[in-house]
Amino acid sequence: MKLSMGREEALELLKKYVKQENLIKHCIATAAVMREIAKHLGEDERKWEVIGILHDIDYELVGEDMEQHGLKGADILKEEGVDEEIVEVVRRHNHMLFGDYEKPVEIALQSADSVSGLIIACALVKKGKLSDVTPKSVKKKFKEKSFAAGCDRNRIREIEKLNIELPTLYELGIRGLMDVRDELGLE
Ligand SMILES: [Fe+2]
Repeated sequence: MKLSMGREEALELLKKYVKQENLIKHCIATAAVMREIAKHLGEDERKWEVIGILHDIDYELVGEDMEQHGLKGADILKEEGVDEEIVEVVRRHNHMLFGDYEKPVEIALQSADSVSGLIIACALVKKGKLSDVTPKSVKKKFKEKSFAAGCDRNRIREIEKLNIELPTLYELGIRGLMDVRDELGLE
């Protein structure tokens, strides 16, 4: 039934478990970047987008217990009847528990999860104008370690394993986020 789950259905499922506006925005942003990376690589855009939306579905439920993050999410998704492959990617995405990712979709998720935050932070210093953010400005902020320090540069770099250079990732990321800028409250 859920094999053909699309963006709207995934969002509806996410909102059943996640109430914080910012966390929902984070998932929408990660998904938008995932979709662009999938398009660039000729992968399944719909599936990668759905994975982006659902990856942090357990975040509020696990609270402080990050050892459960991802595992709990997989349990939820399995129970909800979501495609096994999606469940597995969500289960393994907590880099503090897993890591050494080899599957393109898993590598892309590490990167999209982190770079989406970096690009949004770049937009916020431009008064929310995402349209003013360029790959060049993201590159500059990437090097400033204290800027958006929570956006792990090493995880962003994972994308190089897929033969995507950082400037290309920034371009894909900005394009993806522009598509959902209204939902993110950006211009
Ligand atoms: Fe995330």
